[in-house]
Amino acid sequence: MIFSFLLVAATRDASSIEFMAKRTQSFICQACGAVYTRWQGKCDACGAWSTVAEEAAAAPLPGASGPQRSKKGRIFPLEGLIGEASESPRMPSGIGELDRVTGGGFVPGSVILLGGDPGIGKSTLLMQASAALANKGERVVYISGEEATGQVRLRAERLELSRAPVELASETNVEDIIATLSKGASPRLVIIDSIQTMWSELVDSAPGTVTQVRGSAQALIRYAKTSGASVILVGHVTKDGQIAGPRVVEHMVDAVASFEGDGAQHFRILRAAKNRFGPTDEIGVFEMTGLGLREVTNPSALFLEGRDTESAGTAVFAGMEGTRPVLVEFQALVAPSSLGTPRRAVVGWDQNRLSMVMAVLEAHGGLKLGGYDVYLNVAGGLKIDEPAADAAAAAALISSLSATPLPATRVYMGEIGLTGALRPVGQVAARLKEAAKLGFNSAVIPKAGAEATGQTPLSVKPISDAADLVASIIAGRKRPSGS
Ligand code: TYD
Ligand code: MG
Repeated sequence: MIFSFLLVAATRDASSIEFMAKRTQSFICQACGAVYTRWQGKCDACGAWSTVAEEAAAAPLPGASGPQRSKKGRIFPLEGLIGEASESPRMPSGIGELDRVTGGGFVPGSVILLGGDPGIGKSTLLMQASAALANKGERVVYISGEEATGQVRLRAERLELSRAPVELASETNVEDIIATLSKGASPRLVIIDSIQTMWSELVDSAPGTVTQVRGSAQALIRYAKTSGASVILVGHVTKDGQIAGPRVVEHMVDAVASFEGDGAQHFRILRAAKNRFGPTDEIGVFEMTGLGLREVTNPSALFLEGRDTESAGTAVFAGMEGTRPVLVEFQALVAPSSLGTPRRAVVGWDQNRLSMVMAVLEAHGGLKLGGYDVYLNVAGGLKIDEPAADAAAAAALISSLSATPLPATRVYMGEIGLTGALRPVGQVAARLKEAAKLGFNSAVIPKAGAEATGQTPLSVKPISDAADLVASIIAGRKRPSGS
């Protein structure tokens, strides 16, 4: 009887492909949630070491019904694709950079997981969003499981938001929280800071374990769906994944956003990794100031701040982050190596992409990079994953190798193929417009698709391939024969 009961619980949890029945103890990876029958040093599922810990077997998840439910299912009507389709109403926070990432505001009944390193500014951002919504007359509840109400008040005071009618509590028991929230008018926004501190009585594991995090998240998600409140779960991510990771929650929520930044720098970037109700390629840019997070509406100016325009090895990329053009500087250093295997180090760009671009420059551009250490950095702490950045990275490499500074007012864009050809990029007109706005006066773009530039005050230089790019930078250099 008890076995079948556990079996129902285990198979009911769609997320666990593992089998949990017949055991009172199981071993669960605290990083990814994989379940094992005995302890092991390395998790086979995620490859992490020393993350498998013993936990009591999972109890039925809150709200999941037991074996007493009738075996016969309820019959429900199936519908066609044509029918009522309503666009979800949105609740904008008024913080433009946040609304850009959520896709125009919070969706009622949806759950967002906000991840990020401790101390990056998650609580600050959410306090600012809560206050903004509360000031608009919406009911907002902020539950802090980490800090006492006094500490949260101090933060609000520092942010000069003390007068906002946000309802505050310091609680960690999920059942108590849901009971409190269910009393009176349903809140429009609930902040749970953080999901790792929550625990449910219905889950028979220590607080902070994967089973507890998953059980608590499930209960809060169910609350969001039934009450129509928009819930934000905060999750800490540590680099070594030692804490019960919020990764186990990612597939259950509607949207996953991460708040990133470089400790040394004041920029913070909010990025959506998954969004059922909006885009995933938009970024929100903030600056951490003494008065909390300030929106950065023109990130290009910020990323290009303090640029060294005289030296060789830098090229400006006209990129797109979602619908917004963003200009960033690629910096390269190509220096003779004293090592048998020269070093290649990249920050803010893909290592494999660098290897590929270097190989193409060697094979089709006639450059000799073999004996050199190569370093590449994207200034400002931004991570670029657009293939269109190839041309800018290549230009910075060529410039550094040949000690030829590039024109300070030129931008680069274009994807480089393995044949050496520069492939067309999308939204050329928007990129050129942003470049013109920031005072650039020329642009290197792929010859293929060059007709899509539209009206632009920039002088456009169409380039057909890698050899062309090399020749345009190293003046008077002959194209290698055969290409
Ligand atoms: P916090 O929001 O508590 O981070 P998280 O919730 O992600 O752990 O922010 C912590 C850091 O932000 C802390 O080092 C202090 C800094 N900070 C400011 O610089 N200005 C401010 O106005 C506030 C509230 C915090
Ligand atoms: Mg916090």
